[in-house]
Amino acid sequence: MAPEPEDEIKDEKNPRPLDEDDIALLKTYGLGPYSTSIKKAEKEIKDMAKKVNDLCGIKESDTGLAAPSQWDLVSDKQMMQEEQPLQVARCTKIINPNSEDSKYVINVKQIAKFVVGLGDKVSPTDIEEGMRVGVDRNKYQIQIPLPPKIDPSVTMMTVEEKPDVTYNDVGGCKEQIEKMREVVELPMLHPEKFVKLGIDPPKGVLCYGPPGTGKTLLARAVANRTDACFIRVIGSELVQKYVGEGARMVRELFQMARSKKACIVFFDEVDAIGGARFDDGVGGDNEVQRTMLEIVNQLDGFDARGNIKVLMATNRPDTLDPALLRPGRLDRKVEFGLPDLESRTQIFKIHTRTMNCERDIRFELLSRLCPNSTGADIRSVCTEAGMFAIRARRKTVTEKDFLDAVNKVIKGYQKFSATPKYMVYN
Ligand SMILES: Nc1ncnc2c1ncn2[C@@H]1O[C@H](COP(=O)(O)OP(=O)(O)OP(=O)(O)O)[C@@H](O)[C@H]1O
Ligand SMILES: [Mg+2]
Repeated sequence: MAPEPEDEIKDEKNPRPLDEDDIALLKTYGLGPYSTSIKKAEKEIKDMAKKVNDLCGIKESDTGLAAPSQWDLVSDKQMMQEEQPLQVARCTKIINPNSEDSKYVINVKQIAKFVVGLGDKVSPTDIEEGMRVGVDRNKYQIQIPLPPKIDPSVTMMTVEEKPDVTYNDVGGCKEQIEKMREVVELPMLHPEKFVKLGIDPPKGVLCYGPPGTGKTLLARAVANRTDACFIRVIGSELVQKYVGEGARMVRELFQMARSKKACIVFFDEVDAIGGARFDDGVGGDNEVQRTMLEIVNQLDGFDARGNIKVLMATNRPDTLDPALLRPGRLDRKVEFGLPDLESRTQIFKIHTRTMNCERDIRFELLSRLCPNSTGADIRSVCTEAGMFAIRARRKTVTEKDFLDAVNKVIKGYQKFSATPKYMVYN
């Protein structure tokens, strides 16, 4: 009995060294049965995640901002106050380009010309001759390269929201749609076909026809279908008060178009600017003509296989300047004639699609009753029919309403119809 505690005491004084089994046992002390394998798996997962992140590269957060906890608003504000606004200048010449001591001649408007160096944040490859640059106000060093200046009213012409018109909303006009798509879509989707054959795809289309036959409508459908940038210009927008402004706007318009990957420029009511040149007896040419000539120039200027397509729409193709229409500028001319019987039926169906009509209305008959009428007329008939129903306090439109509407619109408004007059011009 007695030696046991003695033994312990002796052991404490002179402890037995732990052997390897003991160490292994101590190491697992307090651990669950799977903890090592869990730890191993966790480490593997972490490694894999790091690898994936490395392969993905640096990612921005959704807003591009750091987490709010890392914001330092005070010093940001201070920095903003210290930073002076830059001044816009034009780099007119580079002295000794591609060498260590290259210098830049800049022209600050209304101040002077300077020979300056580059700021810390710009590399010599960024700056080209004739570029707009931002310079600081002390040493006039070039701080940033600026994009070319484009008139804000030109930028506004870009159609960003796609119109909700599709090809299905255009009744008839099968041929016209086909022709249009051939010019607009084929070269953009399959440029190699043209390259292989060795021909230049057509640059543009002129749509002409009496009012209300769906020229603008079809252009909107094209805009809806295409992923290309769509720029819509109304002819009269380009008519400017000051000499040279219209031409400058056209230039900037095409400059903007060229900077896009693919672009469709649609000039609506082009007769406002595209009129044939005439001699007004005074010997000067006017502003409108100059604008038109700039369009002609720009049509020639760009490479046809470059992805700019030009559409134009007009009621009076005969008034347009022949220079604008010659092949090579606007190759295709698409006529929008009056819709035939089948097309008229289709247009009726399109416009009554959203209306609350009686079930079996004979649209064939209705379209037979509207000879020589345009899509706009038919739309008006549908609206009038709805008005008749509203007046009679009904919730559905009957065939009788349509017949009344035809009488009212087609017969009654005949004297307002300009269609026959315009048919002469087209
Ligand atoms: N083929 C058609 N199918 C369906 N609706 C049509 C058709 N043609 C014309 N319309 C209707 O007529 C309206 C006017 O057409 P649109 O604006 O295209 O005429 P336009 O040819 O551009 O005339 P303008 O030469 O006067 O500008 C359209 O909003 C549409 O509702
Ligand atoms: Mg139109």
